[in-house]
Amino acid sequence: MKKVGILVGSLREASFSEKLAENVKDYFPEDYDIEIVEISHLPYYDQDFDSGDGNEPESYRDFRKKIKEKDIFIFITPEYNRSFPAVLKNALDVASRPKADNAWNNKAGGIISQSPGLLGGFGANHHLRQVLTAVNVSVVQQPEVYLSKVADLFDENGKITNEGTVEFLESFVNEVIKLSDRL
Ligand code: FNR
Repeated sequence: MKKVGILVGSLREASFSEKLAENVKDYFPEDYDIEIVEISHLPYYDQDFDSGDGNEPESYRDFRKKIKEKDIFIFITPEYNRSFPAVLKNALDVASRPKADNAWNNKAGGIISQSPGLLGGFGANHHLRQVLTAVNVSVVQQPEVYLSKVADLFDENGKITNEGTVEFLESFVNEVIKLSDRL
């Protein structure tokens, strides 16, 4: 059984990214184990935590272990000032160290960016792509997922109603699975 970690780049209670995550869960086959991985509790990364004397926070140890156990990552993020939010960058940094033990290494992934505006978080999406190259997550190239006008996507239960969008996201998830199988 493959393990999927969904990482959400927003802490907001009514986050559209979080709503998307709940929908995307359903697009995986039933025998996939899917978890929206908590990142809000991780202290800001400080390299002194990894000086080798075992003084890293407990939350780092747990998070790194959790990330290591996953086979696939889906990153769902808003755009903050043409990049992706710091909370997600912090999580990426935390699990990338100690360098020889980078928990992201050689896994498959996919990026969904969203915006209430028209650009669909293009800047966030591509900054994230750059960072994922550094931590060696292979990311699906096509389809690229930039969801614009995100506020209009959901019904009152938080479900994506537009059939075309659902099919598009299903095809994206399918590509992520295929990429993971090839690795
Ligand atoms: C934004 N927002 C935003 N939107 C965008 O399309 N491009 C941008 O550069 C920015 N910049 C930005 C900076 C900051 C600090 C905030 C708080 C917001 C709007 C943002 O995309 C919008 O609030 C999303 O709905 C947030 O996603 P969640 O929290 O709903 O997942």
